[in-house]
Amino acid sequence: MLATLPPVTFDSDLGLAVLRTPNSLYALRVAPDGSPRHLYWGAPLDTVTLAALPEAVSPAASSFEADAAPDELAPQTGARFGPAGLQVRFADGTRGAQWRFTGHRVDGDELRLRLDDRHGPLRAELCYRVRADTDVIERWTELTHTGSPDGPPEPITVDRLDSASWTAPPLSDYRLGHLVGGWNSEFQLQRDRLPVAETVLTSRRGITGHHAGPWLTVDDGTATEEQGEVWSTALAWSGSWRVTVHRDPVGRTTWTGGFGHEGLSWTLRAGQSLRAPAYAGLYTPHGFGAASRVWHHYIRGHVLPEPERDRPVLYNSWEATGFDVDEAGQIRLARLASRVGAELFVLDDGWFGTRRDDRSGLGDWTPRPEAFPGGLRPLADEVHRLGMDFGLWVEPEMVNRDSELHRAHPDWVLHSPRLDATELRNQLVLNFARPEVEEWARRTLDHLVRTHGVDWLKWDANRAFTEAGWPGHPDPDRLWIDHTRAVHRIMDQLRADHPGLRIEACAGGGGRVDLGILARTDQAWTSDNTDPVDRIGIQHGFGQLFPAQAMAAWVTDSPNTTTGRRTPLRFRFHVAMAGALGLGGDLTSWSEEELAEATELVARYKEIRPLVQRGHQHRVTPPGPVTAVHYAAPDDSEHALLVWRPTTRFGHGPDPVRLPALDPEALYLDPELNRVHSGAVLVRKGIDPRLPDGDYASSLIRLRRVGP
Ligand code: GLA
Repeated sequence: MLATLPPVTFDSDLGLAVLRTPNSLYALRVAPDGSPRHLYWGAPLDTVTLAALPEAVSPAASSFEADAAPDELAPQTGARFGPAGLQVRFADGTRGAQWRFTGHRVDGDELRLRLDDRHGPLRAELCYRVRADTDVIERWTELTHTGSPDGPPEPITVDRLDSASWTAPPLSDYRLGHLVGGWNSEFQLQRDRLPVAETVLTSRRGITGHHAGPWLTVDDGTATEEQGEVWSTALAWSGSWRVTVHRDPVGRTTWTGGFGHEGLSWTLRAGQSLRAPAYAGLYTPHGFGAASRVWHHYIRGHVLPEPERDRPVLYNSWEATGFDVDEAGQIRLARLASRVGAELFVLDDGWFGTRRDDRSGLGDWTPRPEAFPGGLRPLADEVHRLGMDFGLWVEPEMVNRDSELHRAHPDWVLHSPRLDATELRNQLVLNFARPEVEEWARRTLDHLVRTHGVDWLKWDANRAFTEAGWPGHPDPDRLWIDHTRAVHRIMDQLRADHPGLRIEACAGGGGRVDLGILARTDQAWTSDNTDPVDRIGIQHGFGQLFPAQAMAAWVTDSPNTTTGRRTPLRFRFHVAMAGALGLGGDLTSWSEEELAEATELVARYKEIRPLVQRGHQHRVTPPGPVTAVHYAAPDDSEHALLVWRPTTRFGHGPDPVRLPALDPEALYLDPELNRVHSGAVLVRKGIDPRLPDGDYASSLIRLRRVGP
């Protein structure tokens, strides 16, 4: 009966909006004061129960506190004292809006609630979208100055426009899951008891950030990988952002989030609108593992541009050669890469301008004549002749002072004339909010792709914004939004103009990975840290939100350049095979035995690639002495299990690894041992992970359903 109800309904008599996903329900009600209030987010309810749901009033209601339910977007007026998702100032100095609900529109899977300010020329539309194949709800806000362009010029200053505010139900306790880290240590999963306070997750860097990400989970502190209610949200934005989680003293937890960090403001003039990016959210009663799988399925189905296309096994020269690239050296590497089975060869930094190190050349996107006397074509042609695609590293948003571009256009960088400009990695940031800079970047990249036979761009961004001024512009903070929009737009345009072109997102490793960038890139460079032991934790965090096909993972040299750790080739491969496998070592220094082993392991990866890149991921043993990840074909026909044990302890053998996603009624063949296992045993007792003795032990086990 529930399945026949439309995905979005609005009952005008009750002011009740209901969003139904396959396994969850979200409801809100327009309060008598005109503000939409949160009502419910959780397991599906029938209509009778729903209609009888009490308002989520605050237990602390008094003359000091509002008694109403939490807002869908708090407007900074009334007895509301939590973080406001909408903060505006009118020309006369008045702060905040007081809404009149002026209508709704249901258009298939989309709901819009229209709110007009009772006192000023401001309209907000709270927008919601559900889709038939996912429990993820997308929300965003659109704000419009409804004054007439011919009327008095009374701009409205927007100090904050969040995409959405979310509310968890009353729980006995609250725990916040989020990602923290830094360069070389991205995506470290953190789960902390939420304090009774406002907890701010934010980036003030102009990029999503290595240090944090706009994804979180909320649970009552008892959820596990397999069990427990989890609420999770993720913002589709690749610039500065802010999410404020508010656990109040009487046990209510809400969070509000959107683009921009504190202190920025944007001006709306009559007739202008500002649209906030999508903020997606889901509910599941089946633990963190299920939450991740719902995200993965949603990102494949509705975010990634070409989810069905295999992510190629790539070779990238960065760790092998650094800036020291030239045609002969790259061709040598390309031949070896193709021999071991790479499908894409990416020429990294150092190929352009005067670029021999990070001090010069950035911005001058023409091949460096001493390194590539005939341009890039001879290399690209050889790569293509070897049967591989050709990829090129670019960092279009950045410039070295020592470059032709900066000498010609010193005003193109983000800067404030009275301030010293901070240089990071000897570079400055171009202001992509300026239309002429956006156009220059689009043309430059288009030309590169067109003239050099480029199939793949690795788009890097190696520093954050500082002293981000826009001299002479009346509304300079716009750049924090418009720069990011321009990056997105150029990527979209390049893809549209060059069908087949693929883009890898990168920002000094995983500094800009979010649902916004993944809507126009195929995968992200996860981290500059390629040490397999560190990668186990990094990949665990990355996979909380993002699917394995978007997680670039290279096998590099031993000892590792970041950590100095020595690990066997097999272990490095087995860790990288959990994502979109790549090779990043100096293949010219690998022995014949190593090249042969690599060839065999690349072939093995290609066999399991459909499972890793399009299957269901189950983190069966989260990071610990032994870590195991299971990839299952959606139809249960094939399975791959990757197991890693960095350090052996006491000589004890590993425990069996339980595979709860298997069918206990089925039989599974282990083709390597030619042995049939009962599903019930694999689910309840587990499989021997077959780890060799010693440190850095790993295994890849495959299973095939053979009955019934
Ligand atoms: C960043 C990237 C690396 C490499 C270098 C080149 O650090 O993350 O993979 O491309 O830039 O300078």
